[in-house]
Amino acid sequence: MTISSLVHTTSLSLAYFSFFLACSAATYAAGSADRSAESIATTLCAACHGPHLTGGSGPNLLDERWNHGGQDADIAHSIAQGCPASGMPAFGPILSSNEQKSLVGYLRQQQRAFAAGEIPLPPPPPEDPIDSELHRFRIETIATGLDMPWGMVFLPDGRLLLTERVGRLRILTIGGALEEPITGTPKTYVRQDGGMLDIALHPDYAKNGWIYLAYCEEGSTRDTSMTVVVRGRIRNGAWVDQQELFRADPKYYMADGSHFGCRLLFDKQKNLLFTIGDRGLPDEAQNLASPLGKILRITDDGRIPSDNPFAGRADVYPSVWS
Ligand code: HEC
Repeated sequence: MTISSLVHTTSLSLAYFSFFLACSAATYAAGSADRSAESIATTLCAACHGPHLTGGSGPNLLDERWNHGGQDADIAHSIAQGCPASGMPAFGPILSSNEQKSLVGYLRQQQRAFAAGEIPLPPPPPEDPIDSELHRFRIETIATGLDMPWGMVFLPDGRLLLTERVGRLRILTIGGALEEPITGTPKTYVRQDGGMLDIALHPDYAKNGWIYLAYCEEGSTRDTSMTVVVRGRIRNGAWVDQQELFRADPKYYMADGSHFGCRLLFDKQKNLLFTIGDRGLPDEAQNLASPLGKILRITDDGRIPSDNPFAGRADVYPSVWS
């Protein structure tokens, strides 16, 4: 099911990569001489950062936008220590200190080439129809200038309601014009994987106007955060009537910017399924008492459906579905 693969993809790819790294470590320990930065980038970095390091499942390393600091020492630290919680392995154990240093120099050199336009961004999607297993489809750009659109849903009149991760909720008209952001939406904590996330309409939206929204908020301790799910309505360009549906206990507000979830999906009984990521603690997915790394299921107004698989069990987080 797609919704569960969304929770797990990163940790799986990291697990696979860790195995790969273990093999590389064995090769390095055998006493091989320092490898060139370019060949390290191709063999060890391109898998996630893209063949030109301009981005893949990992971020673009050449655009001078740094999450963990852009001084040479910061970049060297990122490479040596990694950010295992967000999927960047630690390379300290498998690269010599000279190799780590020359990688920083190589990134600087590639950055200059990128700024000079000598390194292309990934090519735009093809305009010709693409044949998938079941369908033939074509990709068309319908809006530009959005800052990381995260979730979207069509309104019954054909307009598209979408979130931008930086904390905006916007409407794209059928003609392709972006309306001003909806005002009064919840204050969003934006860092690393976090921000404004998915959006869904109540199955009876045409009658009741409920819109479901997931976002990250900061906890009472600075730089701790967790996912929240609310519903509300849009009236005259403003977010109104907000009701809270999921807000975790303060102990789940983590000082880690990774893995918040949160896809929203209504099932046939009009209950809401939503994902909560493991918040960088993969083992929590196996702990039934915690909401982390789970698919949760609540009624459309936030109660626990009586047919939830663990309903009534005191030792299980009440909304756990799987
Ligand atoms: C398994 C995937 C993976 C591989 C392989 C990988 N990275 Fe990363 N890297 C990531 C991810 C994901 C991030 C984003 C982490 C974050 O922002 O917390 C990242 C972040 C970074 C950062 C910090 C960027 C910033 O914004 O501060 C640097 C520097 C970096 N990687 C360099 C490298 C280099 C050099 C290699 C090869 C030796 C490499 N990475 C290999 C996934 C990977």
